[in-house]
Amino acid sequence: MRNDAAGLPDAHERLLIDQAIAAQRNRPGALLGILEMVQEANPRKYLSAAALAYIAEKTGLPPAQVYSVATFYALFNLTPQGENVVCVCRGTACHTRGSRDLLEKVSLDLGLDWDAMSGTGEADKLALATPDRSFTLRTVACFGQCAMAPVVEVNHRVLAHVNERTLHREVRARARERK
Ligand code: FES
Repeated sequence: MRNDAAGLPDAHERLLIDQAIAAQRNRPGALLGILEMVQEANPRKYLSAAALAYIAEKTGLPPAQVYSVATFYALFNLTPQGENVVCVCRGTACHTRGSRDLLEKVSLDLGLDWDAMSGTGEADKLALATPDRSFTLRTVACFGQCAMAPVVEVNHRVLAHVNERTLHREVRARARERK
């Protein structure tokens, strides 16, 4: 679909990017809007290196600026996402109500290597996809819904006061939908 090796997105994505740039022209925060539109249009909901380079070229912005905006905001993905996205909040309120245990349990449910992840010290800043790309497991610093801690989002649906059983059920249901 894309041609990262040559540093250029395919024709379809170039067209989408051109349209996003035209739609955001002269708007405040245009770059953010462009990145959002391009990511949303991507079937795997991510911004490839080729897409970022092309956005820089077409907007005239320095590539480093485009890249730093894409990496600064948690909503942007730089790797292909799974069909389902489970996002566990790792903010203080959620942490004190057990979000780390939820993260460990769901990572094991999804067959992700929790021991390797937790051993890296990076387990609180995750964005991992299962090998079959059916799920991506992510973390976020805070959803701004602390009164409902612990909070988990599944495919952008907010689940409040989550426990291991409800999260397990939710993940199983999403997995069954694929079959
Ligand atoms: S800390 Fe989890 S929603 Fe705020």
